[in-house]
Amino acid sequence: MTENMPQETKQEKKKVIFSAIQPSGTITLGNYIGALRNWVKLQDDYNCIFAVADLHAITVRQDPKIFKQNILNAYALLLACGIDTEKSPFFIQSHVHTHAELAWILNCYTQFGELSRMTQFKDKSQKHADNVNAGLFTYPSLMAADILLYQADLVPVGADQKQHLELARNIADRFNGIYGKTFTIPDGYISKVGSRIMSLQDPTKKMSKSDENVNAWVAVLDNPDTIMKKFKRAVTDSEAVVRVGEGKDGINNLIGIMSSVTGKTADEITVEFEGKGYGDFKQAVGEAVVEELRPIQERFNDYIKNKDYLEEQYRKGAEFALRISQRTLDKAMKKIGYVLK
Ligand code: TYM
Repeated sequence: MTENMPQETKQEKKKVIFSAIQPSGTITLGNYIGALRNWVKLQDDYNCIFAVADLHAITVRQDPKIFKQNILNAYALLLACGIDTEKSPFFIQSHVHTHAELAWILNCYTQFGELSRMTQFKDKSQKHADNVNAGLFTYPSLMAADILLYQADLVPVGADQKQHLELARNIADRFNGIYGKTFTIPDGYISKVGSRIMSLQDPTKKMSKSDENVNAWVAVLDNPDTIMKKFKRAVTDSEAVVRVGEGKDGINNLIGIMSSVTGKTADEITVEFEGKGYGDFKQAVGEAVVEELRPIQERFNDYIKNKDYLEEQYRKGAEFALRISQRTLDKAMKKIGYVLK
């Protein structure tokens, strides 16, 4: 039944999932645990559609050559993580023109005040004070368009995207309130464990690829030595007991990572490391992460060499995505009163 391209009819009853990731250079362990790993697991039970969100990435300046490579790398890396294009259409956002078009429309149904309250906008405009562009400001309307175009029921993301998702719901609700039901109101799908992987150097901040301190994050493509070094340098506390606790942000984070990667509970991890020091624990977390990422890195090295295969996959994904998203765009435009051609 499911051997070929995803077919709209036979998957009709499953709930629709949409999610995307920006191709901004380094894809981190935070992205992997908080999002990508969950996407892979959801593919059998849901009607999933995934994208590399390259339109979003130019809200900060990109070097053209590096950007192009990063887009392909992100595509190949997600395949390597286990996105299966036989089950889940997977495309590059800029290949599907409906995203930019619906984003413009939704901009006209999004309030200045709502966008001003987005914490990511506030953070990024501080960080890039010399380039606070309109795209950075209206970024959440594009994200809403991504989601609403596919009538997504669920959006698996890390905790940092929750506010954007709530805005997408509000925009959809407002539009539906004016014109009648046009968009499905999406729910977030945020897992309990690992939805907020923290910096290894300042565990009160989320792990982010834009952190200037390279020891703060682990990249999915970091080599084993680098991964081990970064875990060995991870900030902990002075208690020297491996347990979840208040004021133990560093250890809590390492337990969270260990638990996500091995499937063991925090209590099981505490028992396993009773009487052992943080040195041993950090070594073990590093090794578990290296083992988790090893097969992904191997598959990535194969995919990235095979440009023809990548092209075949992203073209197929874009064709599917355009077909589905055009229907929603037409529906929304018709309701507004546009003359459709
Ligand atoms: P992005 O590219 O920053 O991150 C991709 C996914 O990784 C999650 N994530 C984390 N999860 C746990 N711990 C962390 N430290 C961590 N860092 C990142 C993010 O929550 C996200 O799920 N705007 C989005 C991309 C996007 C999108 C969409 C997502 C564009 N259109 C539509 C969902 C639906 C972003 O910048 O994610």
